[in-house]
Amino acid sequence: MNDLTKWYKEAIFYEIDPRTYFDSNGDGIGDLQGILQKLDYIKSLGTDCIWLLPIFSSPMKDGGYDIEDYYAIHPDLGTIEDLKELINAIHQRGMRLILDLVVNHTSDQCEWFQKGEADKDSPYHDYYVWSDSDEKYKDTRIIFLDTEKSNWAWSEKAQQYYWHRFFSSQPDLNYDNPAVREEMKMIMRFWLDMGIDGFRADAVPYLIEREGTNCENLPETHVYLKEMRQLIDAEYPDCILLAEANQWPRDLMPYLAKGDEFHMAFNFPVMPRIYKSVGVGDNSSLIETLKDTPGIPDDCQWCTFLRNHDELTVEMVTEEDRKLLWDIYAPEKRMHLNLGIRRRLAPLIGGDMHKVELLYAILFSLPGVSIIYYGDEIGMGDNIWLEDRDGVRTPMQWSNGAHAGFTIGNPKKLYRPVIDEGEYDFKKINVAQQIEEKGSFLNRLKALVHMRKAHPLFTSQGFTIVNAWQREVFAIQRSNDSETILCLHNLTDEQQTVALGKTTYNHLHASIDPMEQEIQYSSEVTLPPFSYLWLIRI
Ligand code: NOJ
Repeated sequence: MNDLTKWYKEAIFYEIDPRTYFDSNGDGIGDLQGILQKLDYIKSLGTDCIWLLPIFSSPMKDGGYDIEDYYAIHPDLGTIEDLKELINAIHQRGMRLILDLVVNHTSDQCEWFQKGEADKDSPYHDYYVWSDSDEKYKDTRIIFLDTEKSNWAWSEKAQQYYWHRFFSSQPDLNYDNPAVREEMKMIMRFWLDMGIDGFRADAVPYLIEREGTNCENLPETHVYLKEMRQLIDAEYPDCILLAEANQWPRDLMPYLAKGDEFHMAFNFPVMPRIYKSVGVGDNSSLIETLKDTPGIPDDCQWCTFLRNHDELTVEMVTEEDRKLLWDIYAPEKRMHLNLGIRRRLAPLIGGDMHKVELLYAILFSLPGVSIIYYGDEIGMGDNIWLEDRDGVRTPMQWSNGAHAGFTIGNPKKLYRPVIDEGEYDFKKINVAQQIEEKGSFLNRLKALVHMRKAHPLFTSQGFTIVNAWQREVFAIQRSNDSETILCLHNLTDEQQTVALGKTTYNHLHASIDPMEQEIQYSSEVTLPPFSYLWLIRI
């Protein structure tokens, strides 16, 4: 593998919902040209790679994860020419772009499904997984528990059941069919040829079904995923595949395999444990998960995150921890969705932005690279009264002007309503105001991002947990040949004193004030409640 392919090991990712980022034509729906207009802002955050939620043509029953035509951009968002322009502008700024590739299923509006459903002799029938009974694959869990009763849905037209792991409007593709395998590769080539830098591959554990298994993470699925990787290596060696596999650590590792499957995988197991650590003031389950996560191949990288466009999933924790996390972070029933919590970062943390900064510091101290979910950089709120996960996908709050500055027009209706009341009202929380205000969360987060980026050791694999016994503090040391940085995080609402031994350290500033003084620490240091301190060994 050549050096070109390593950019992802150091990038900070920025996740955007294109429909709610910026509306450049005034129709009330965000679009590709809108993102283009905001690239300098995105660059200023210190982010290097944009991940766009699905942009292909879709009836939008699942945020675009229900694709109708894999070769067309949804007209609300723009055209292929717009995408090409966006790719160029992103590359000109030294950034990258990855798109969502929905590998596992299509929309039931997709021509393949419609043809296959209408005619059992059509070659498209076998693009999907059909059965005369709904008794097969009984050991498979239901993911969208709040809406689906079964993974099988009855088709009147076909007089058969079809298999679906998500909404019944999202039939699963049949990866035992060579034509489907080839089709998905053609789709990959189509978009990679346009110059994008890779894909976040959606729902990859579920490609193949086998009786007597839970139909997740099957060896046959990994065989196909490796074929996708071979295509990338052979034809697009500078591009990446990022795995969305919400699995226990032991099942997640095979997605990185020997460095011959995915370049990156979201670190799902670590995410809820970060929330637990600050929720209960105890480092133990976070440390346990970090220790349980085996090393990964050199050319691979973890992608860590605090929030994304979905509910905060608490599937991969013990039942006891799930209950605990629900009690702490989802006190109202309406905040629950499936096995998760539909809230944004700032409201989850009670709007305490110092504590939110602590969570980011913990995230950035971990091995891997991180993702920032649009809007979380200013502490946007959520609207739990919207349906499904829409409440964490409200329009970006650019200013205190009309419609939060989200649109250039005055449309009757926005794609989703802006948050215009309470603590997270756009008049109080918006980009324009936070750019101006020196000590704003936006500026503090930018400083933290820049600090992390100034020290490449953070993107390496190695780490040492320090003073694990002092459960109130999460202390992680990162080093390379030239530097050692000790990151201390106080998980509690009381001050904590940490022993530093014989080593002397300088304060590593996430400073927005270049004049801030050097402070030296030796023997011990005291951290205020819910604060962090990163120290560099001298
Ligand atoms: C994971 C995506 O993040 C989620 O938004 C979607 O609903 C499911 N996959 C199904 O595609």
